[in-house]
Amino acid sequence: MTTTISELRISPVALGCWPLAGITSGAITEEAAVAVINAALDAGVNHLDTAYAYGRGGESERLIARAIRGQRERVVLATKVGVYWDASGALKLTGKPELLCRHFEGSLHRLETDAVELLYFHAPADDAPLAETARFFREVLDAGKTRAVGVSNLSVAQMEAFAAECPFVACQVRYNWLQREIEADILPWCCAHNVGVVAYEPLALGLLTGKFTRDHVFPPNDWRRQSPLFTGEAWTKNLAEVERLRAIAARNGCTVAQLAIAWIISRPGVASALCGAKRPEQIRETAEAMRVAKLLRDFDAG
Ligand SMILES: NC(=O)c1ccc[n+]([C@@H]2O[C@H](COP(=O)([O-])OP(=O)(O)OC[C@H]3O[C@@H](n4cnc5c(N)ncnc54)[C@H](OP(=O)(O)O)[C@@H]3O)[C@@H](O)[C@H]2O)c1
Repeated sequence: MTTTISELRISPVALGCWPLAGITSGAITEEAAVAVINAALDAGVNHLDTAYAYGRGGESERLIARAIRGQRERVVLATKVGVYWDASGALKLTGKPELLCRHFEGSLHRLETDAVELLYFHAPADDAPLAETARFFREVLDAGKTRAVGVSNLSVAQMEAFAAECPFVACQVRYNWLQREIEADILPWCCAHNVGVVAYEPLALGLLTGKFTRDHVFPPNDWRRQSPLFTGEAWTKNLAEVERLRAIAARNGCTVAQLAIAWIISRPGVASALCGAKRPEQIRETAEAMRVAKLLRDFDAG
């Protein structure tokens, strides 16, 4: 099953390759990460999403290159620049063309490719005017080092300013059943401007798989400890919502994760959901959401 962002033919379920760097919820071996990528490709996922910042030295990009050696043409590769780890280990934002250029050249090197299919500006930064940043992306596009440009985490006003200097076809933002803030402005803007929404954290960091209970304790190295999704009253409310989804999923013969992903990739304007995974069976399960979405659509149409 494929959909398009501009002329790129992508699977609506993409593999989000951030967890493969071993930072979000603990370490993962290189072999296990490569197995996840191969499981994704075998399950019909051709869209791999990464970034320079996914790993303190771009590990996610390096792992992707290793996994797709000899099968580069099967893959729509998306990466991002604009967020990086500095020498002290802090996560930093930049929109400075000279830094972005250096980081992107590093990405191409790690990905073992001359060009990617989609290059995103990762997040707004205050160290350079947005127009200057956008002109850097325009130059990369004109040089043929990316087939298309995307933006991530920008407001509508920032997207308008960026678009004035550089055409872009994808907008990557947080979007899932529990977190729908983009429906107020970003999603309608993207629909009106023919920009594909690429949803990140579509499983709400795993909450929408239905595997967590109220008494779950995350280990110290798990980023979810700090997430407002998993604390206080919100967590209680979210767990109740998951139970509601579990009943709907059971009626439709699918899992909670598949229902959550099928819902999101069926939303008008959404081009793709970036499903993170730590194990092959996880992406096999979420990739099945493409079939579930089609079944639900056929059912509606019938
Ligand atoms: N542009 C941006 O600023 C931005 C920000 C965040 C993310 N992203 C992109 O979006 C992607 C997705 O975000 P994410 O990976 O943070 O969150 P996510 O997709 O909502 O959740 C992924 C996590 O859920 C668990 N999981 C996944 N499938 C499962 C299954 N079938 N059964 C049980 N558990 C399952 C795994 O963690 P455990 O096994 O450890 O529970 C996995 O690491 C990233 O990989 C990245 O590509 C972009």
